[in-house]
Amino acid sequence: MEKKIKTAYVCTQCGSIYPRWQGQCNQCGEWNSLVEERIVDKGRSRKTIVSEKPRRFSEIGAERTSGYVSGLTEFDRVLGGGLLRGSTVLLAGEPGIGKSTLILQAAEAYAKSGLPVLYVTGEESLNQLKKRAERLHVTSDNVAVVNLTNLEEITETIDSEQYGVVIVDSIQTVSSGMFQSPPGTVGQIRESAGRLIELARKHEIALFLIGHVTKEGMVAGPKVLEHMVDVVLNFEGDSQYVYRLLRPIKNRYGSTLELGVFEMSPGGLNQVDNPSLLFLSHTEDGARSGSVVAASCEGNRPILVEIQALVSPASYGTPQRVAGGLDNKRLALLLAILEKRIGIPMGGNDVFVSIAGGLRLNEPAIDLAVLTAIVSSLRDIPVDVKTAVAGEVGLSGEVRAIGMADRRSAEAAKLGFDKIILPAQTVKGITAKHITLAGVSSLEKTLEMLF
Ligand code: TYD
Ligand code: MG
Repeated sequence: MEKKIKTAYVCTQCGSIYPRWQGQCNQCGEWNSLVEERIVDKGRSRKTIVSEKPRRFSEIGAERTSGYVSGLTEFDRVLGGGLLRGSTVLLAGEPGIGKSTLILQAAEAYAKSGLPVLYVTGEESLNQLKKRAERLHVTSDNVAVVNLTNLEEITETIDSEQYGVVIVDSIQTVSSGMFQSPPGTVGQIRESAGRLIELARKHEIALFLIGHVTKEGMVAGPKVLEHMVDVVLNFEGDSQYVYRLLRPIKNRYGSTLELGVFEMSPGGLNQVDNPSLLFLSHTEDGARSGSVVAASCEGNRPILVEIQALVSPASYGTPQRVAGGLDNKRLALLLAILEKRIGIPMGGNDVFVSIAGGLRLNEPAIDLAVLTAIVSSLRDIPVDVKTAVAGEVGLSGEVRAIGMADRRSAEAAKLGFDKIILPAQTVKGITAKHITLAGVSSLEKTLEMLF
């Protein structure tokens, strides 16, 4: 029976199907929700043959296919130790953040371990890619590059040889000849990714799809891909700073608590074994008021970062509150706690808080460090440079328990800190070597201890 392929327009909101594009879905009333999709009509078969029978867990063998390890440790770590054959990884990030650089370095690492790698570039010419490869010292003959954007040509190329790893940079440039819509549209991206993922499974290839996201969030593309792929890695950082974080957002085979840290240099990305050193400014010149080290955690990786606060009398109008690297609303909340629970009036002061190195932190465990930095600046009394702080502050000024306290303390001890201030509740549960654990139950007690 001949397969009939045609395209239709499907509403991404309610799933209604239309033969032609229209601006509004008649069913659900949503505007601009129709995307072009391929409908495969397999014809009508009389009898359905079920290929698999339901089984009990005890009847299922533990057939875990082995993974590919690149040897680039920060990269392998984020992938949960290695990359499974037949699986697809989406590497997402803002344009210019270094995705192509990272994946080319990973390609070289896989190639060196003996895997044939195919790098499909739709964004850059082969000459541009070669220039980058020279800069990154990518020399392996196991990496083949091709400049293609047509999906059918790409699948044909993948089919023609046995590749271990295939990279498509980027999925937004790929388009199928079967659609009229331009590359980068939701329908094209979904179709292209779907076909490539299918192919990767069939040939047991490890597939990397590179996806661009914009600053405003994930616009058309990576978001629709997230549920199709096995692993989603976010590559992030501030292009004004050198550090880059590789973070798993989803991993069907491993933990999403891992974190890879890299540093962008003229010769490519370097792995950073000790990320805390990137985010601590030099303390040789002694303690400064307004500066406190927070024992933070990104996923399960402890990172010590310096929090800097500057409090000065507001010269005119509404006092300013500016937070760099942390949520503005969180800062407002912490200032309200300081005012209400400790009785320090903040209304006449401008408050600026920033995190050294340009890191963004979302975890509440940095609350106590932010507040101590603010009070330190306000009173112009420095906090000892060998003291680190971690704790969440509740609305009534209580210091609440936090997770990963043992890792935070161990990291602080490793970096030469001799004291760490932690929530009293948390201190009970842990032991630490070479560092004093000081438990505090409230913000008030913390301030009494420090100032
Ligand atoms: P790129 O990998 O092209 O980003 P993406 O693929 O995410 O769009 O890298 C972007 C930036 O990285 C570029 O502005 C230059 C810088 N860079 C370096 O600093 N060192 C290097 O060795 C390379 C290759 C790039
Ligand atoms: Mg690129």
